[in-house]
Amino acid sequence: MSQFLNALPKAELHLHLEGSLEPELMFALAERNAIALPYTSVEQLRKAYDFGNLQDFLDLYYQGAAVLQTEQDFYDLTWAYIQQCQAQHVLHIEPFFDPQTHTARGIAFETVINGISRALADAEREYGISSGLIMCFLRHLSEAEAFATLQQASPFLDKIIAVGLDSSEQGHPPAKFARVFAKARELGLLTVAHAGEEGPAQNVIDALDVLKVDRIDHGVRAIDDAELMQRLAREKIALTVCPLSNTRLKVFDDMSQHNILQMLAQGVKVTVNSDDPAYFGGYLTENFMALETSLGMTHEQAIALARHSFEYSFATPERKAQLLELLERYAASR
Ligand code: HPA
Ligand code: ZN
Repeated sequence: MSQFLNALPKAELHLHLEGSLEPELMFALAERNAIALPYTSVEQLRKAYDFGNLQDFLDLYYQGAAVLQTEQDFYDLTWAYIQQCQAQHVLHIEPFFDPQTHTARGIAFETVINGISRALADAEREYGISSGLIMCFLRHLSEAEAFATLQQASPFLDKIIAVGLDSSEQGHPPAKFARVFAKARELGLLTVAHAGEEGPAQNVIDALDVLKVDRIDHGVRAIDDAELMQRLAREKIALTVCPLSNTRLKVFDDMSQHNILQMLAQGVKVTVNSDDPAYFGGYLTENFMALETSLGMTHEQAIALARHSFEYSFATPERKAQLLELLERYAASR
């Protein structure tokens, strides 16, 4: 484990809480809730994590989330992720959750958000880890279902900083959710969207122009469009890039092919994130380490990536200043 990268102060801006469900916790919750899993052991389950593409992963990810039933389950899930953050010097987090994955199974919206929010509040109190929660719409579901979800969230808007858009990108372009995102913005929420992960650079453009998002999740396919690359750099639009996810889902054949440092060199405000760490083999430090091992990332580049994670977070200006100060002090001490 790289001491430098682990102790580097950093923020995580692209993390699906349901994707932080480790096989051990999945089995424990299955037992607690008397739910049968189609696997006999943690080892057998881990072996199934061999994905050909995004959809292969999503099928297992939605299946795994079925063990989450009670408010305490959502608390335990979130708290386990926070333990990793504490161990890896992740000082600010903006996790995603997918309410529709749970409400579709008859779990109340409030059960989900109350469990998650209580853990985030404890993280702030016990560890000083600040956070902003992002509610994602599943893009393979309809616009009407997204509107219904936004409606369910209305009593809890003080617990949500932004809305996002995840799940299957192919066949579900940003424009499908233009009106939902407009409504969310009207309600005072910030917005992000997965775009340019498996889908084309045009989805990044549409997320910006049609959904008017504040940040792009993934966005690695933007590299196919030189004009878009220049725009991202010029307009300082941050991308939340997820290296281990991209190689595990075959967006890139191998980490040595990953374009994150190339984008960084072109002035794009890229950040490093873990996406679904329980499924993709690593949390934030492991993602940074993969860039060092396979791309020769320097300490200066790592510091620049961490700096972006604070600068382009949705933290308050006061918190951002505090986080950036901690980072600069760490960098100066090296
Ligand atoms: N892409 C789309 N949807 C997702 C992902 C992802 O990487 N992870 C969890 N839901
Ligand atoms: Zn994601």
